[in-house]
Amino acid sequence: MERVVVIGAGQAGFEIARTLRSNAFTGSVTVVGDEESIPYQRPPLSKACLVGSDGALDTVALRPRDFYTSHGIDLLCGNRAVAIDRDAAIVDTADGTALGYDHLILATGTRNRPLPVPGTELAGVFQLRTVEDARTLSAELTSAANVVVVGGGFIGLEVAAAAVHHGARVTIVEWLDRPMARAVSPTTSAHFVDEHRDHGVRWLLGTAVESIIGRSGRVTGVRTAGGSLLEADLVVIGVGVVPNSELAAEAGLEVDDGVVVDRHLLTADPRISAVGDCASYDPGEGSARRRLESVQNAVDHARCVADRLTGRREPF
Ligand code: NAI
Repeated sequence: MERVVVIGAGQAGFEIARTLRSNAFTGSVTVVGDEESIPYQRPPLSKACLVGSDGALDTVALRPRDFYTSHGIDLLCGNRAVAIDRDAAIVDTADGTALGYDHLILATGTRNRPLPVPGTELAGVFQLRTVEDARTLSAELTSAANVVVVGGGFIGLEVAAAAVHHGARVTIVEWLDRPMARAVSPTTSAHFVDEHRDHGVRWLLGTAVESIIGRSGRVTGVRTAGGSLLEADLVVIGVGVVPNSELAAEAGLEVDDGVVVDRHLLTADPRISAVGDCASYDPGEGSARRRLESVQNAVDHARCVADRLTGRREPF
């Protein structure tokens, strides 16, 4: 094992590189990421970064830039892996680089699910994913008067709290009958409904969005399926994510709501693993296949694979 290549420079990709080096791996470690920024934490982007000064955004990097050079990690930022040739064991990147690997790890994460209604291209309509999105949104929130949040998930509730902090009138439109239903119990949902309502947030539960409307290219409101018109000068869409598994599928690997991996986070190709939000893994003990959207899961997956590659083979 001489050459490890990681696709994806998020929390999981970073953690693999870091753990390989702390496990005294002496081969080459290359991390390819399509964002310009060095690896950073996403959780603060929808919290401190939206209410604090712009400086909050400078504190999200997982490590300073010189960490990568001092640890012999080749970090290729702003470069996208475009194809995997499994027979030749090569990853092609958008800038024409061919990266040969002995082991390849897919840590490609997820992307925001688009809201399939007219009007999402209007100025003033946002989704939040990257540090750049957070920079733009935090600036817009300081002057917004009427904010409509579509989706009562983690992003929606955190953005709503930030918008209230900036003094906006906030409405959350959630198509299910309770928020965060994917991840928390009805009791917890009810608590957050009350908490946000106590801070002045208006809830429209069990309500779908029909369209986002605007004037002169800028958003002015949101029309619900029931026909109500909600005034808005800022709309934030947080309706979930989808796994980035196209590269794996195009390389002939099995994909089923994420890249399919076994209890060791290995795909059917013994030279390719997948970790974090993009991985659909077998938790063992007869349980159903699982894909978790969680920082802790990304870190734990990454450590499991880095340990395996350095001789400590344990199932996840
Ligand atoms: P989510 O899955 O948490 O919530 C999406 C919400 O949108 C759900 O309540 C869903 O029912 C609703 N929804 C879906 N389609 C809709 C529609 N057409 N109209 C109205 N509502 C609709 O996803 P979210 O909030 O977008 O977050 C994205 C990812 O970021 C998730 O993986 C989440 O776990 C993660 N995240 C993590 C944070 C952290 O601190 N670790 C903070 C914020 C987000």
